[in-house]
Amino acid sequence: MSATAPAICTTHPVSVPRTGTLQWWHTAVIYQVYPRSFADSNGDGLGDLPGITARLSHLSRLGVDALWLSPFYTSPQADHGYDVADYRDVDPIFGTLADADALLERAHQLGLRVVVDLVPNHTSDAHVWFQQALAAAPGSPERERYMFRDGRGEAGELPPNNWESVFGGPAWTRTTNADGTPGQWYLHIFDVRQPDLNWANEEIRQEFRDVLRFWLDRGVDGFRVDVAHGMVKEEGLPDWAGHSAMISEAESGEHDEVAESDDGGDDGADVDLGNAGPMWNQPGVHEIYRDWHAVLAEYGADKMLVAEAWVSPLPELAKYVRPDEMQQAFNFAFLASHWHADELRSVIEHSVQVNDTVGAPTTWVLSNHDVVRHATRFGLPSAGGNVEPVGPDDLQPDVELGLRRARAATLLMLALPGSAYLYQGEELGLPEATRLPFDVRQDPTIARGGGLGRDGCRVPLPWEADAPSFGFSATGESWLPQPQEYGRYALDAQKGDPASTYEFYRRALRMRRDYALGSGGLAWIDVDHPDVLGLANGELVVLANTGSEQIRLPEGLEPLLSSIQLDQHGDGAIFLPGDATLWALRTRGEVGRKPFGPD
Ligand code: GLC
Repeated sequence: MSATAPAICTTHPVSVPRTGTLQWWHTAVIYQVYPRSFADSNGDGLGDLPGITARLSHLSRLGVDALWLSPFYTSPQADHGYDVADYRDVDPIFGTLADADALLERAHQLGLRVVVDLVPNHTSDAHVWFQQALAAAPGSPERERYMFRDGRGEAGELPPNNWESVFGGPAWTRTTNADGTPGQWYLHIFDVRQPDLNWANEEIRQEFRDVLRFWLDRGVDGFRVDVAHGMVKEEGLPDWAGHSAMISEAESGEHDEVAESDDGGDDGADVDLGNAGPMWNQPGVHEIYRDWHAVLAEYGADKMLVAEAWVSPLPELAKYVRPDEMQQAFNFAFLASHWHADELRSVIEHSVQVNDTVGAPTTWVLSNHDVVRHATRFGLPSAGGNVEPVGPDDLQPDVELGLRRARAATLLMLALPGSAYLYQGEELGLPEATRLPFDVRQDPTIARGGGLGRDGCRVPLPWEADAPSFGFSATGESWLPQPQEYGRYALDAQKGDPASTYEFYRRALRMRRDYALGSGGLAWIDVDHPDVLGLANGELVVLANTGSEQIRLPEGLEPLLSSIQLDQHGDGAIFLPGDATLWALRTRGEVGRKPFGPD
């Protein structure tokens, strides 16, 4: 089945090209490295900093502008590094401070900026401050660094409030006094080994200013701020009946509902990311970011902060990127969208419009270390949206369809103005490891009853199809087992093959740069077909076909790059297959029935 050429008529500007001084982060494509799973240099089965440094040429060859490193600091690894015991040192499993310096130096030589993770909501329970707090008395300055409270009930046997941990179970754990009697409780919005800091305490604020300076002095270009919406809690810590599941319950509404509202209005385009509640998105967090903005400014206008803030609706997120706060915030509403033209159009338009109100670049992201890889999400019956982990007993994705849509979604994403994030392995088309046996899964959420965990997107990368552990580690060790089929996705199996996902990403990234798409503008093109999203960014025309039927391309378009091969018929007609995206140029001033251009 195929549709005739859609009538492409008029364009509707959504945003204009960015002018004025452009910083690198306005337009950058930033590649997320999850150090544990990128490359292992010492054969212990865990990725490390020297392993990353040795593979940095992969990133420059791919054509990204920067990398963001998930935490590599001293940590007992209770949450794989998001539990920091020393913010100024490197965990021995990842290397040394000298290795971090070497990584920074090599990245900069290659023209890559480096963003590091900052984890300010909580420390590890192994942090010296928490150990001192446990040893100190209630009310002491040591305890004031964290969120210690007396319990409720006659003997303090009940937690101070009813909050639940994002990872499952209660958000409070009771301590034991030196004499063995039960003591106060402490708050941990995440794992029991991740006690929340008390951001009402000036000492904490001073410490994190210093930590920022420590890494800025070493030359980092920016920080990804973990749980940026969580540091300040509502006064009095009131009970809250809701359950915070930052990741597993982040879900968009049914796309049909969203599709009804494509007017960019305040409600219809918004994905509900769950987290309303007294521990999330309190107005007080913004004071912290204004403070940090000033710290970064001491180092020049090219330093940046990017917020990991699972807040909705989008105008709430835009508050994090006001001119005197952070530079970017992850756009999880886009990540959580379905592969559906109306929904994508709605989310894209609303994101751009809302960010424009504060002058911030919009960011785009489809995968990260917390959610199911998009090559798998798009192969599930929900076609995206659902970021919940998939296990061996669950319905398995259609791998081929998932990858096909993932490439199409990526090509759509990379055409959009602003900054885009890639997650390691997506340039290989890597699917989620959905069949990981239960006994090898390690995510702390599992032990707390938080579901299947996020291990499926964290499996070590395949570099060489025929090497032990696919080239991840010389010894063949790998902290999570790599599925046999990962060999097919290995980098060396894809290099030089024009049909491969890797070469496709390279071409897309090069063209994104050549056509200055990051600093471009966005206009919708009316496409007379419900499954097709049409947009223009400068001279580039983008058609994303989210349906399964091929469509005949209108005349006047010269294909530049497509996510899957186009179909050319004997009569010269060209077809865009279903679940595919095309970048094209106009060969004439008009395409289809009417000229392009604003109404
Ligand atoms: C962020 C990280 C996630 C971590 C959590 C707690 O959401 O992305 O991996 O588990 O914060 O630090």
